[in-house]
Amino acid sequence: MIRGGTLRPGDQLPSVRSLCHTRRVSPSTVLRAYEILEFDRLIEARARSGYYVREPRKPAPEPAASTPKSSSTRVAVSDLVFDTLDAVRDRDVVPLGSAFPSPLLFPWAKLARFLGSSARHMDPWSTVDSLPPGSIELRRQIARRYLRLGMTVGIEEIIVTSGALEALNLALQTVTRPGDTIAIESPTFYGCLQAAERLGLNVVEIPTHPQEGVDLDALTRAIAKYSVRACWFMTTLHHPTGAIMPAEKKRELVSLLASREVALIEDDAYAELQFSSSPSPPAKSFDKRGMVLHCGSFSKCLAPGYRLGWVAAGRFTRDLARRKIESSLATSLPIQQGIAAMLRRGSYDAHLARLREQLASQQSAALDSVRRHFPPGYRVARPAGGYFLWIECAAAVDSLDVHRRALVLGISIAPGPIFSARRQFGNFLRINCGHPWTPAMDRAVQQLGEILRRY
Ligand SMILES: Cc1ncc(COP(=O)(O)O)c(C=O)c1O
Repeated sequence: MIRGGTLRPGDQLPSVRSLCHTRRVSPSTVLRAYEILEFDRLIEARARSGYYVREPRKPAPEPAASTPKSSSTRVAVSDLVFDTLDAVRDRDVVPLGSAFPSPLLFPWAKLARFLGSSARHMDPWSTVDSLPPGSIELRRQIARRYLRLGMTVGIEEIIVTSGALEALNLALQTVTRPGDTIAIESPTFYGCLQAAERLGLNVVEIPTHPQEGVDLDALTRAIAKYSVRACWFMTTLHHPTGAIMPAEKKRELVSLLASREVALIEDDAYAELQFSSSPSPPAKSFDKRGMVLHCGSFSKCLAPGYRLGWVAAGRFTRDLARRKIESSLATSLPIQQGIAAMLRRGSYDAHLARLREQLASQQSAALDSVRRHFPPGYRVARPAGGYFLWIECAAAVDSLDVHRRALVLGISIAPGPIFSARRQFGNFLRINCGHPWTPAMDRAVQQLGEILRRY
């Protein structure tokens, strides 16, 4: 009600006693709820008077749309990516540079129960029946989730993979040949750059807006100039900016690519982490010609480390299933069956609701830390989901240098250049807010702020 404007700054909230009465909860529950809202800086306690809605803060400006060079290039960033991301594995380092949410946000005990029971009841013949495209039951559950978005994706189109990353790599191999050019966002997920590098592809980086995603006019020009073979785009909760392309723009994108016979590899690893109660559907929902290869994952929303993902590959399904067999034969069957059982009976939606709420609250706290500690002049968008903040610092900042200095203090960050084929975004940082926002995290942001002031 505060965010929607029903409760306005200065309005008094119901007293603890009246909430206990109307909600039939204990005083400690109400106090805990008010504590969370205070932590998110939405309300404040006034001595001997009660709780009030706080004055909203003026949000920091957003970064502008990116302006990459409009030429095609070879990629060579893998060493830089490995060097900078290695640091994140150390548990004693404050994980602001981590690509993962806190592992403590996931239902491990429940997953273990489903995994154990499905392994105990596994039909030995299913190891043969479930070779690619994968477990029928899991594919049925995935198809049912598409159906909830109003999409009819048949189970015969779904191929189970080891995480979204395998799905994306197989998709890229299926629709390109070495030397081809693909269009990517700028900035983009470094996994996309590494895949292009490994397959010997050229990339053309398309200007990307931090709220609305890729610039379709620039894409149209690039397709005409470079005979682009495929696009690899994160249309929902783009990594690292958090942009969600509006549905109408997704529709235009699909129709533009279909008219040019360009395949769309849709990297949708974060789709389930949208905070909105009416999530944006994938571009795949507008695909009439089977040109979209939609890649999903359970790594970010349910079971990190289980390495389970999928691709709904449209007209490329048969070809991609063969490549899956050639590259890794199949994905672990007990894992597929355990997750299928969890989706069927394990209150997945209740877990997702809790996870999204937790991530939204952590995001507010992280934005607040940044606001208090970073030197003025930075820009940041407030993504409508996920757990990253993409921050543009003053032009003089060198984020690779910030990364080195922060590591000495036991803090990691992800520096901007790992998100670009040409190592642009030298003054950008990606900060992870997927961990419970503790005083230690706030202190780490303060120390980062001190580093940034030196430039
Ligand atoms: C945008 C994006 N796509 C794909 C992946 C890989 O997902 P998975 O862990 O399911 O392989 C990641 C992981 O960081 C990601 O950020």
